[in-house]
Amino acid sequence: MYDFDRVPSRLGTGSLKWDDCAPGELPLWVADMDFPAAPEIRAAIEKRAAHGVFGYNIIPDSWYDAYVSWWRDRHGMTLDREGLIFCTGVVPAISSCVRKLTTPAEKVLIETPVYNIFFNSILNNGRVPLECPLKIGPDGEYFRDLAALEKSMSDPQVTLMILCNPHNPVGRIWTKEELSHVGELASKHGVTVISDEIHCDLTDPGFSYVPFASVSDTCRRVSVTCIAPTKAFNIAGIQTAAVYVPEPHLRHKVWRAINTDEVAEPNSFAVAAAEAAFTKCAPWLDELRECIFENKKLTLDFLQTHIPEIKAIKSHATYLLWLDCSKLTDDTDELCDCLRSTASLRLSPGAQFGADGHKFIRFNLATSRDTLKIALDRLKSGIDQYKKSK
Ligand SMILES: Cc1ncc(COP(=O)(O)O)c(C=O)c1O
Repeated sequence: MYDFDRVPSRLGTGSLKWDDCAPGELPLWVADMDFPAAPEIRAAIEKRAAHGVFGYNIIPDSWYDAYVSWWRDRHGMTLDREGLIFCTGVVPAISSCVRKLTTPAEKVLIETPVYNIFFNSILNNGRVPLECPLKIGPDGEYFRDLAALEKSMSDPQVTLMILCNPHNPVGRIWTKEELSHVGELASKHGVTVISDEIHCDLTDPGFSYVPFASVSDTCRRVSVTCIAPTKAFNIAGIQTAAVYVPEPHLRHKVWRAINTDEVAEPNSFAVAAAEAAFTKCAPWLDELRECIFENKKLTLDFLQTHIPEIKAIKSHATYLLWLDCSKLTDDTDELCDCLRSTASLRLSPGAQFGADGHKFIRFNLATSRDTLKIALDRLKSGIDQYKKSK
């Protein structure tokens, strides 16, 4: 029904991904997609734009209804509407919460490798990231070492953890049992858990995620959940997100934090775009998930056949592939520089994600099949060049 084969050129649109490139470069790094937003979202934005008056905005009841019905229908979770707070983005919400819920020099626990901007939200606020590295199991999937997590949480300087659920960049969907353990440990050690669930709608066909706050009363009590339509519907530039905090005392703090930092008010398109996504775009999203899954299969086949030194980590969520390049190098900054200079391909070197990320590359699958094929050919030729240079 929708066309994911043709993507428009994004050059000249002020795109972080494309307009920062040298001529001819192909960027598959930053986590946005090359697909236009669903027609229903574009129509809602166009309708709002056509009105022509763009003064200050409120959050209407229909915005709450859109989130409540989406989480009920897609994720089997009842959101209490009074627990929902609008925010301009997940990162602004996380940064505000770090400032409000911790004091300077306290430690914030993160499970690395993880979305690099978590480090910024912690360090830029004068707090200390405490990395609790994830491990790779015999099945090729990442898992968390609970004993290590408990050791980190029992540090009295740790009062906050940022959980990534599902996890960028390793693509893990955490199970109910795994999340339950996190909640129990957090409750035991007095740690609040920010659960960043921005990737939750981007699961492989047939897979769904478990909202952290839905797991148990314990998880609910300790949780600050960040959700948004921006990643799944490719509208990050609209800046529209929500924070869900069921526990009233904690909610008041988060509400105060977001308002103090003045990130609690929507621009004139934020509400219309989110409502359209959550009330009209389920069919578009399901086709998108199929398309990303096909792109993933194509990429895995290509790697196995043409670049067997690179191994993709097994994943069931996000449109990002986490590629283990340890057979080639333990310095993927250098490898990515080589791919860029010899093959005009821009990927994310993994060191910025922490832990042993310096042996990995993150690869964005969310583009047209044709562009992906070009990218894979360039990857092959860049890797050949790299090997020759060694
Ligand atoms: C895990 C995660 N959280 C947050 C964001 C960005 O959120 P926002 O654009 O709402 O600030 C991203 C973007 O890639 C992400 O991967």
